Order: sequence, then structure tokens, then C-alpha cells
Amino acid sequence: MTTANGFGTGRILYGGDYNPEQWPEEVWAEDMELLRQAEINTVTLNVFSWATLQPADDVYDFARLDRIVQTVADAGMSIVLATSTAALPPWMSLKHPDVNRVDAQGRRMRHGARHNACISSPTYRRYSVALAERLAERYAEVPSLVAWHVSNEYGGFCWCDLCAQAFRDWLRTRYGTVEAVNDAWNSAFWSHTYHSFEEIFPPNELGDAMAGGKAVLPGSALDYQRFYGSSVLDSFREEKAAIRRFDTARAVTTNMMGTFPDYDYFAWSDDLDVVSWDSYPAHDTTPAQIALRHDLMRAVGRQRPFMLMEQTPSRQNWQPYNSLKRPGQMRQQSWQAVARGADTVQFFQLRQSRAGCEKFHGAVIGTDGTGSTRTFREVAELGAELARVSPQVVGSRVEHGSVAVVFDWPSRWAIGYSAGPSRSLEYVREVERWYAELHRRNVPVDVVPATGPFDGYAAVVAPCLYMLPEGLAEGLRRYVADGGRLLLTPMTGLVDEHDRLHLGQAPVPLRDLAGVWVEETDALPPSRTVPLAFGDAASAGDDGAHGTVLCDVVRADDGTQVLARYAGEYYAGSPALTFRPSGSGGGVLYSASFPDEVGTRLTVDALLDGTGVVGHDLPAGVELSRRVREDGTALTFLVNTTGQSQAVRLELSGQDLLTGAAFEGAGMLEPYGVAVVMGR
Ligand code: GAL
Repeated sequence: MTTANGFGTGRILYGGDYNPEQWPEEVWAEDMELLRQAEINTVTLNVFSWATLQPADDVYDFARLDRIVQTVADAGMSIVLATSTAALPPWMSLKHPDVNRVDAQGRRMRHGARHNACISSPTYRRYSVALAERLAERYAEVPSLVAWHVSNEYGGFCWCDLCAQAFRDWLRTRYGTVEAVNDAWNSAFWSHTYHSFEEIFPPNELGDAMAGGKAVLPGSALDYQRFYGSSVLDSFREEKAAIRRFDTARAVTTNMMGTFPDYDYFAWSDDLDVVSWDSYPAHDTTPAQIALRHDLMRAVGRQRPFMLMEQTPSRQNWQPYNSLKRPGQMRQQSWQAVARGADTVQFFQLRQSRAGCEKFHGAVIGTDGTGSTRTFREVAELGAELARVSPQVVGSRVEHGSVAVVFDWPSRWAIGYSAGPSRSLEYVREVERWYAELHRRNVPVDVVPATGPFDGYAAVVAPCLYMLPEGLAEGLRRYVADGGRLLLTPMTGLVDEHDRLHLGQAPVPLRDLAGVWVEETDALPPSRTVPLAFGDAASAGDDGAHGTVLCDVVRADDGTQVLARYAGEYYAGSPALTFRPSGSGGGVLYSASFPDEVGTRLTVDALLDGTGVVGHDLPAGVELSRRVREDGTALTFLVNTTGQSQAVRLELSGQDLLTGAAFEGAGMLEPYGVAVVMGR
């Protein structure tokens, strides 16, 4: 089966969303010529065409799509074919109102926008499957087809009566009895005790959803989120099964969105033949934030290569400030993606929309319709480079990380639903805090789910692993017993899978392993920090390190080492960072606060001390990552994410595949420059 690697083309797929239905057919030939000049070799077709493909209940019309497919196939393009089920046709919304979502305030939506279907609607499910099936039947034999793209950027929720009924059925299956639901949700709170499933409703803003996204009964909110996400996944599975009836070979995917909150992407790992995702950094997104999201998406695909399904070649239109990518920056971000595991570089979009809310979105071919723009030139240069170099990259895998960073959607949701302890607490930012420090050191990192696997990592960082049912705790205990180093933070191990607090001394499931008791937790308003003293108490506060957001007041057990103490507040002198050794070099570090940059650096020093993990000392903003080919040859990617030239010194000798020049321990990187060095 041709799936994750290379799509059978032997080179990186280079191209993107192509929507020729939005402009006259005479232009298509010009498009093909320009795309050929840019060395574009793939197009994603048919993402939003349902209304024309199916103009009425039993009427299908593929004539225009046939012509598009023929045009691009004749031009030698590979095709990623979308199923077009991400935006409803207007007639369907009118005739079958059950396809329209009901919002969190109970309002039934009319037709409009996109990503607008109720996932519980039998009409939507029937018609989306029928369309996917017809498309597969018609186009599965097209030789240039390389992958299927189901729907588009699944997202959002519906709160209609059908969803309420489906939610009750889901609860019946999960819990069996309404008493078990009451127990899980602790529904005695504020007189919620249910006497039948019919009394249960989706927790929307007419019910138990509180202002600011908090929940009255977080157990119920979490279950609704799980229920809805699993229904979305079921819908994906149904479309995929329909495709599989005619095409057993091509990869089937749907495009994800990095740290997007709505659904637990790890639940999709088994169902996606290849992970694909859309990377849209804003003007102030840091390279580490982008890198984290690539690594997360690679993790969803179990560390296999992924597709960079969309990025803009120049600017977005939907951010508050849609800055242009600087000269060279699109190339740099493309190589950054490849360096972290992408086997495709795809754009949204290949030609600019003339009208509609994306008319100001960047595209490879602008409204001038020529190949004369800076954007086009840069796309064409990258196209030539990828055509030359990518056969050497395809088939390689990103090297195994030395450190794993845990990303856990359920903990993130549950922290979000919780009223308290602090509105300043943001799960993703806490993951980013630690990831950024590892990224700064160029330590190879893999993101992993809370279920692991953790083997092969010298250290595991698990920020705010708030929801810790016994099974998850057991995996971490085993990792530490086997000699692993585990870093924990405030908001760890506080609740079970229903957001019920564990009873006992926190962090209850890891209490003994961590060798600390978190007795109480102080929340700091954004304007306040607490100084931290690392090492010798005599130098208290000298490092300039501070705790932010939350400060746990902890008691360390005998045998637990205190590596830093608070140097302020009534808890001055009490432990701020501890280490509980567990033999064979392993143990648990407990960071009692969320340290600022200095504190994070010192904490990571302590985490890696004695593990043998060292990063690479490169100029700030230069990122190093490695892919390893099947024959064992290493490809070292040096990516300069800054607009300044950077001199790099590194124990590495080989050939830079991009320039052909030798790299012998040192080299210069241009602003946003990249080197791909083959060698050791
Ligand atoms: C993506 C979406 C595309 C396009 C793009 C614009 O989220 O999948 O269809 O809207 O954003 O940046």
C-alpha cells in the first residue's frame, strides 16, 4: 500500500489546494503552464464543491470535476482528491434542516459558511457517505491519484436534539445505568441527580456551560466533548470505508490543525493512513511554537512522516495582522516542516480567489495571473530545489528523540472547564514553556500522548498532566522504575477521567514516586511573580529566576532532594523544585511553580543532568533536526529562522544537498537560510 512515504512518486509532493471551479475554464491552461514553471507536482482538488456535484437529492453531476481531473492529469500532476463534504449545499440545508447545526445557545443555524454539518444528522451521514462512494467509484482508477482527503479541518460542535439523543445513547453504552452517570459526574452537586437518561441534555449555554468556557459539571462537559469527537471520527470512518470499497491502496487522510482544541487527535492515529495538517503561523508565532506543532502532528502519526497539507505562500487573510512572509521565509518554513517529518509541502492555495472572504489570502498565482511576483518566484525556486533534492529525503524518518514531551487533550479540556485555580493557566502555553527550552538547546524531542510509549527517552516532560486515571499513572511509574527521568509541574495528577479530585495527598497517583505532598496552591495575578533560589540557599534569588501563575506549597519527603526554594511570599524557603531519585539514575523532578525563562533553563539543566543528553550549541534562532534514511545515512537540517546571517559551528562533515558544497564543521546560513547536510 502506498501510504505515508513518498506516495509512490519518489519525491516530496509539492503543490496545494487548487480551486479552478472559481474561475473561467480558459484560465486553466494558463494555470497548468505556470504551475509547471513552479515545478508544482500535485494539486488538492474538490475541497468545497458539494453544491455543484450534487445539485439535488438524487442528482449528481461530475462533468466539471471530470474536466478538472483530466486537465491536471494531462499536465502530469499528482492528485489529492477531497470528498467535498465539509460545506453543505444550500438546498440540503433547506430541504433537510436536520443537517444544520444548533449552536451552544440553542439556535438552529441556516445554511452558511462551512464546516457546518451536524455530525449526528442521519441525512448528513447518508449523503456524505454516498458522495464519497461515488467519487471513489468514479476516480479510483485515475493513475495520478495519490491520496484521499476526507472533509476538511473537522471542527466545532452541534447541540441539537439529535445530538442530545445520540449523547444519551453514547452514555448508555459507556455507563450502563443512569446511576453510574450520576456517580461519574458527581451530579448530586447543585441538585443535578438524574433519574433517567431523558433528563440529560448536552451541556450548552442554556444549561451547564458557564461564561468563559467553564462547566458546572465538568464530567458532563468532558463526556460531551468525547462523544462529539468520537462521532466525528465515526463520520470520517464511514467516508473512508466508502472510499475503500473502490480504492484499497491510496492513503486516506483529513487535514488537522496542530494543537486545535476540539477533538483528541491521538484518538485518530489508527484511522489515518497518513497524518496531514495545516500550518498557519501568525506574525508573532515563534519557530518553537511551529516546531512543537509539527512534532505533535508527527506524534499523531506515530512518528511517521506527515503531510504539510496547507500553508500560505505569502500571507493569510484571517489573522488580525496578516503580515507577509519575509523573502526566504516561506522556503525556511517549508524546510523546517520537512526537517521535522513532512513528506509534502502544500499551499493554500494555488490561484487566488477573486471574491469571497479569502480574496486577500495569499496564493501561488496572484490576481496578476503571471509568474512575475516575488511569491511566485520564491515558490518556483523552492520547487526546483525540492525536485532536485527531495528524492534523497523521501523514505527517511525523523530520528528518535532523546526527550519526550507529553501532550494530553483530556487534561487540556479538563483544565479549561475547571473554574479555578487561575484564569491565567493555559495548558498549551505550559507545554510550550518546556518545549521552547528544549528547542533552544536543539535537543531532539518527540511529542507523545500520555499513554506513551516512553521507552528510549532519557527524560519525559509532562506539563500539567492534570487528569491521571490509574492506568496512565502506572505507565509513568514503570518508566521511572526503569531508570527514566520524569518532570512534573503544578496541576499534575489531581483528577480521574471524570474530573473528580483524587482523594488523598496530591499528586495522589504519583505521590510516592514524586516524594512530595502538594499541600496547597497559590495563584498569582499576572502582575506578580515569586523569586526562586536554585542551588545554594545563600545565593537566594541571585539567578533571577521566578515562579509564575501558580505556586504549589509542597512538603518534601525524607530522601527527596530540594533543588530550588521559593525566595518570597509566606512560603519563602519551601521547595520550588525537587528531585526524588528512584535508582538507576531515574527519578521524578517536581517543579512546584511554572518558572519563567531563567527558571525553566535551570530546571531543564537539572532534568538533563547526568542523563548524557546534550543538545547543540548553535546561534539563537538556528534549529537543528535530523532525518535518517533506511540505509542509515543521516540528513542534518540546519534552519535559520531569523532574518540575519548566522555563522554555525558544528561537529559535522558532509555535503550540503542544497548547494552541493562541503560542510566541514562550520558554515554560514543566510537570513532564513537552510542547509541539508548528508553525512555525520
Ligand atoms: C484553512 C482551510 C482552507 C483555507 C485556509 C486559509 O484553514 O482548510 O480551506 O480556508 O485555511 O488560510
